[in-house]
Amino acid sequence: MIAYLETAQQFQINTPHTTYALAVADGYLMHIYFGKRLAVQDLTDLLRLNESPYTPTVNLREKAFFFDTYPAEYPTGGTGDYREAAFGIETADGFRACELHYVEHRIFKGKPLFSEMPHTFGDNAETLEITLRDAPTDVTVFLSYTVFDDSDVIIRSVKVRNSGKKAIKLTRVLSASLDMDNDRLEMLTLYGSWARERQIDRVPLRHGKQRIDSLRGESSHQYSPFFALVSPETNEQSGAAYGFTLIYSGNFFAQAELTQHCQTRIQIGINPDDFSWELQADAEFQAPEAVMVYSDNGLGEMSRCFHKLFDHHLIRSVWRDKIRPVLINNWEATYFHFDETKLLQIAEQAADLGIELFVMDDGWFGHRDSDDSSLGDWFPDKRKFPNGIHAFAEKISVLGMQFGLWFEPEMVSPDSDLFRAHPDWAIQIPSRELSLCRAQFVLDFSRKEVRDAIWAQMQDIIESTHLSYIKWDMNRQLTELGSAALPAHRQQELAHRYVLGVYDLMERLVTTYPQILLENCSGGGARFDAGMLYYSPQIWASDNTDARDRLRIQHGATMFLPPSAVGAHISVCPNHATGRTTPFDTRAAVAMSGTFGYELDVTRLTDDEKSRIPAQIECYRRFSPLVRNGLQYRLGDPFSPSKTAAQAQNGWDAWLFVAEDGAEALFTYVQISAEANMRSRRILLAGLEPESVYRYEIDGNTQEKTGAYLMQCGLLMRNLFGDMQSVQIHLIRQ
Ligand code: GLA
Repeated sequence: MIAYLETAQQFQINTPHTTYALAVADGYLMHIYFGKRLAVQDLTDLLRLNESPYTPTVNLREKAFFFDTYPAEYPTGGTGDYREAAFGIETADGFRACELHYVEHRIFKGKPLFSEMPHTFGDNAETLEITLRDAPTDVTVFLSYTVFDDSDVIIRSVKVRNSGKKAIKLTRVLSASLDMDNDRLEMLTLYGSWARERQIDRVPLRHGKQRIDSLRGESSHQYSPFFALVSPETNEQSGAAYGFTLIYSGNFFAQAELTQHCQTRIQIGINPDDFSWELQADAEFQAPEAVMVYSDNGLGEMSRCFHKLFDHHLIRSVWRDKIRPVLINNWEATYFHFDETKLLQIAEQAADLGIELFVMDDGWFGHRDSDDSSLGDWFPDKRKFPNGIHAFAEKISVLGMQFGLWFEPEMVSPDSDLFRAHPDWAIQIPSRELSLCRAQFVLDFSRKEVRDAIWAQMQDIIESTHLSYIKWDMNRQLTELGSAALPAHRQQELAHRYVLGVYDLMERLVTTYPQILLENCSGGGARFDAGMLYYSPQIWASDNTDARDRLRIQHGATMFLPPSAVGAHISVCPNHATGRTTPFDTRAAVAMSGTFGYELDVTRLTDDEKSRIPAQIECYRRFSPLVRNGLQYRLGDPFSPSKTAAQAQNGWDAWLFVAEDGAEALFTYVQISAEANMRSRRILLAGLEPESVYRYEIDGNTQEKTGAYLMQCGLLMRNLFGDMQSVQIHLIRQ
């Protein structure tokens, strides 16, 4: 998979369908090519080393000119490259220039694994590690490129070692940077807000820097740590698409910079703002992994490459390959207003209908009747559970259900025993007012004693209730960054140390109790990132459960994370976030395209709604393996609904899950807005075997058509009566 051409000093990294090439020239590591797979061959002429006037040794011109134009693989600042640097240091004397030279490389089977951070894994990996060095400071940088023989992705990571004698400050260590030739690219990013996560933006690159980032201490609602660069003509099924993401859950930075010579510098990594790291002599710093994908079959294939990688090489949970229990969560049913009796009524009714897991959300601990108290006090509220929470858990178990609980381990309320005992455990800057957000503060998870105290409380509850599921929430962003445990010159390490602390506690949780199904959440989907997948196989995608809005949120979410990770539930209508009413079965079809569950007071449903639940559950169980392991094809565009009757052909969304062996497929169609007197629509399928015949039922009739017919002529979806009507069709290869 990885070839080294010795004479050309060129590296060629091949995945099944793509090639990534770099070379050493004049002692510097340069980027040559990233795209469709090439035969192994000498590509160094693409470096333009003989073009005037900038190459130092060939044209004997000044180095500074060269630095500002050469296609750098891991650029530094202070010596002539005025574009964005990937790596920065500050010496004890206060100097910041740095120049990395190639030292050596090695190619080996396997890949680097990290002790403190999430990472990809697998036996079928090969890695190229290139060592670079800044001579005056003796700082050594190791760039790693890993490929798996079953995935069209390249994993990059960066490790820094201080081989010198004096401590040095790292001011930035991005995980990936590359300079590509291309001035026509468009940048696709996922932006949003609480309850409106992962909307799609797509704009042409202009000269200068286009950046998305987070300084919130988490990956955030506002931007996802993902972007794609695409050709103007790229769509779901065709065209070039480069995708980049980071296996990290904290402050990130992702940028594309179109330069004076119309090259594009692409970068992703830990946000260099609010970051620095003191590296003692002989110490090392590890940056998180970045994932790069190239597809020449559009955004759909790019996404499927990410999905497959994460499914096979990142998600560790035993639940990865299992049908997850159908759950009911009481948040939208009761909010904080419940007691044991009320919850048992819901659980009894839910158990009768076939729901398997009861999840008690926020409000079961301390004296929490609203969001203004008790975070940090993880013991049951005696008023709500007079006999303790284990007694309640026992009653749930008697109903034949499993039991799950909500925790928000990283937080503390000012009104809590924990805060009264340890006010310095909150992240804060002395003598500066500490900002409240959702009436709470953030615990300093960079401190082991803080994590230990929370862990001890969680373990008591987990063991006394025999928990099967945990929803790990995180409901506010970080402010007033300051840790009582760090000296002044290391305060800028806090944001990253905080994330490492979160990973440490999650690691303890998933390794001590591997059978627990962990669902990550952050005020909805503010931690919807690949880092979390290493611990939790599913992530609550949004507090917005409205089926119409979920079409967009889930379309955006699956740009880079697999559908099996998208936390999705059926809730009541009118929807609590939008006031919209959508059909019960459409809500089920949309939730079934993620993890599936209920988030409502099942005792208040109509008899008709209740009667539909067993069939919905059966359908979920039947198709869950297809959603989890199949290949997803997004067929519609929920971001462009019809505005007029003339545009009614756009007022729909559809997607398809195709089994990896091609034996079956599940098609879901949603007519977003009804139009009077419209003809049926042809929806072109994708991903089927052209020659194979598929049998399916449509409008009560059994049909048999070839894959070619279904992909070129389409399925005819007749005009349905009403907005948000849906159809699901199961296609079986004959
Ligand atoms: C966050 C979560 C919700 C719910 C509430 C409880 O907003 O996203 O699902 O758990 O917290 O306070």
